[in-house]
Parts: sequence; structure tokens; C-alpha cells
Amino acid sequence: MNREGSKESRNESMVVTPWEVGGVIDYDRLLKEFGIHPFSEIIDKVPDPMHLMRRGLIFGHRDYDRIVEAMRSSKKWAVMSGFMPSGLPHFGHKMTMDEIVWHQRAGGFAHVAVADMEAHAVRGMSWEKVKKIGKLYLKSIAALGLKPRNCIMYFQSSANFVKDLAFELSSEVNWSELKAIYGFSSETTLAKMFVTSVQAADILHPQLSRFDGPKPVVVPVGADQDPHLRLTRDLAARVSIFAFEKIEGGVRIRSRKGNSYLRDLEKELSFEFKSYAEHIDVFGDYGEIVELVRKTEVEMGGFAFIPPSSTYHRFITGLTGGKMSSSKPESYISLFDDPKTAAKKVKRAITGGKGSAEEQRKFGGEPGKCAVFELFSIHLIKKDEELEEIKNRCKNGEQLCGQCKKLASQLVEEFLKDFQEKVESVNLGDYEIIC
Ligand code: TRP
Ligand code: SF4
Repeated sequence: MNREGSKESRNESMVVTPWEVGGVIDYDRLLKEFGIHPFSEIIDKVPDPMHLMRRGLIFGHRDYDRIVEAMRSSKKWAVMSGFMPSGLPHFGHKMTMDEIVWHQRAGGFAHVAVADMEAHAVRGMSWEKVKKIGKLYLKSIAALGLKPRNCIMYFQSSANFVKDLAFELSSEVNWSELKAIYGFSSETTLAKMFVTSVQAADILHPQLSRFDGPKPVVVPVGADQDPHLRLTRDLAARVSIFAFEKIEGGVRIRSRKGNSYLRDLEKELSFEFKSYAEHIDVFGDYGEIVELVRKTEVEMGGFAFIPPSSTYHRFITGLTGGKMSSSKPESYISLFDDPKTAAKKVKRAITGGKGSAEEQRKFGGEPGKCAVFELFSIHLIKKDEELEEIKNRCKNGEQLCGQCKKLASQLVEEFLKDFQEKVESVNLGDYEIIC
């Protein structure tokens, strides 16, 4: 397959695409190649940031400024992400779920998609199976704290407004673009191509008028999903009527759907402006002008989509080293594992420790390369000081891997027991759910 011009990140040592992740991940390179901004650049502005942000586990973002601004004002905003039900939810999915829950608590309206169309098209799974597993994802996020208020959950295949929007968006995407972004080949099925538009529709649907129109939306994902976000941000602009460009003292506005829209827009402008055949220059505050134009576009029947924001978290390492994979049960902890079995898996995990206790006391361990320490920092230890202490003790050779494993397996067992009890008591009927 010819991958030239492809925007995916791939060389001998690292592969990051929506359908394949492998090798040693170089996060700085990912930021540069994908054009993602480091999260460290914005964290100081985030009110009471969550542990994944504080610990650098969420390492990148696009346009998160827009979300911070919305959090600080009383404007409406949303958080949306999706899960492909191709296997049981595991600790990797929990990370995204925790992010959705955190954003809902911070004031966002939460939209949760079960990507059953994607699982069917890409993984060849039966509808029956994806429905059954999909419900476990929804029960899981509910058990992790997602509240029924300010929330909607849906299966892609049941949400007609998503499928209709996907069709609309697909008319702006052509074959060479798909090939460049996803590396598709002549063997790729039409369904696999179409689910990329369905995902774009997942991401943009919170801005439909049935959800109160254009608004900032943040999509928490792993960096492998960034190609979808780049395409969606582009599509958001392409299907909307008006385009904005900053000029001295204001905004230049063009229409993508014919200049008659410009003439209609002029009638609604409460700002000083200059009219040209192909554009209008409007003078005043950028934000206020754009907001008014978007509102007018919606009244005209347009989408007026705001490009979605996103955050990117690190890939969770498998317990056995390498990547966490649903085809290797030893490599991950499923949220539905028997708690005792999960505890045993932790005991067998690969650590950043040395070959012998003696060596480790002398040279210290490497928490940065340790699957157990990763479990602590992503999932098991909430207090920063406690985590910091383990890290320092490890580096100084004061902590041995046995102690860590004992603690981690205890915490995993307790967590899973409690989580699975909560799942039992979840009533999906309390939620707005389209399935
Ligand atoms: N493609 C995603 C995955 O493989 C799942 C997904 C579907 C998604 N729709 C989405 C993620 C919308 C973020 C936003 O996990
Ligand atoms: Fe990991 Fe703990 Fe061993 Fe350090 S002591 S390498 S943190 S398991």
C-alpha cells in the first residue's frame, strides 16, 4: 500500500493509527507530527484539574482553551466520546470514562456513544453481540459516576440523527482524502470507510439544534483517534455556511454556500460592516461577532459548527509489557474480571525493577517504565503525595517490587469488588438512552 502523503504517524519503531497502535510511543514526536498542543501549556488555566491532567497522563489537546473559557462562563458546553464494544471494557477504557465523568461534573453535558456500527463494520461482530457488550460499557460509565442528569447515551445504529448527519458529512469527503488520512486501500470496505463519517457525526451531533445548537465540545481520546478529529474539524467548517478570518479590528466573513447568504446576513448584523461581493468585513469584538453570525446561520438552517476540542491521553501499557490488547487477557485487567484473578495478574506484571533485590536497593527502580506504577498513577492512587512517595522510594531503592505488587493487587481487588457491585445496582432506565 502506498502511504506517501499519509498523515498517520508510522516508522519502524512507532505506529499510531486509529486501527493499529504499536512500538515505542514517542509522545513529543506525536505532538509535533499531529500538530497537537502540549497539555502542560494550558493546565494552569483549568479549574481544579483532574489527576490525569496533573500527572501528565493527558499530554495533549486541541483548542481546550475554548472549554476552559466555557467552564469559567455560564455558557453551555459538552463532552463526548465513544467506545467500540469489540471486547469487555478494561482499565484503558476506564481512563476515558473517568474523563467524561470529570467533565460532566465540571458542568458539561455528557454524550456517550457505543460504536456498534464500527465494531460490526471493522471487527465483523454480530449486532446481537455488540448490543450486549455495549450495554456493559454504559453500565460501567454509570458505575464510575456518570449522572443521569445532563447526559445522553446511544448506540450508533439506533441514533438516526447521528446516521443522517454522517450521510450529510460523507458528501464532503472523497476517496483520496480517506486514503491520505487513514491509509485505506482498494480492499477497504465501504462500511469501514463510512464509519469514519459516523464517528465525525458522533463528535458533531452535540451541536445539532435538538441539543440546543453550536457549542464548545471536548472529545477525550487516545492519540490514535486524532486522525478522526482532524477530519471532523475540517468537516465542521466545510458543512457550515459562514467562514471566519481575523482581520484588523474585526472579522472577514465569507460564505461557502453562495454569496446570497452574505446579503441575508447583512440584514441581521448589529455591528458596523463593509460589504463586498465575495465577503463582508465586520468591525468589533471577534468573539461577539462570530457568536452572532453563528446564531444567524442556525436561524437560516445551517449547522454553524464550532470545531471540536480534544484531549489526548497516553496509551496504557499492558501488564505483560508492550501494548494492552483484548486478544491477550493476561495483558489487561477487564472491569469484569474476577477480582481475585485480576489481583493475580497484577502479581505477574512486568515492573521497572532490577534483576535482584540487592541490585535494586543499590541502583533503584524505574517507575517510568513500570506497569504497576502506571496502574497506581492512572487508576489506583488518588493522592498526589502518596504517589510521589512511592516514586521517590522506588528511585532510591527503598521500595521493592514485591511491596508495590502487594499494594496494587489489594487495591485492584477492592476496586473491582466495589465497581462490580455498583454495576449490579445501575439501572440504565434512569438514563436517557437511545438503543
Ligand atoms: N473509534 C473509537 C475507538 O475505536 C470509538 C469512537 C466512536 C469514538 N465514536 C467516537 C471516540 C467518537 C471518540 C468520539 O475506540
Ligand atoms: Fe515499579 Fe514499585 Fe518496582 Fe518501582 S518498586 S519498579 S514502582 S513495582
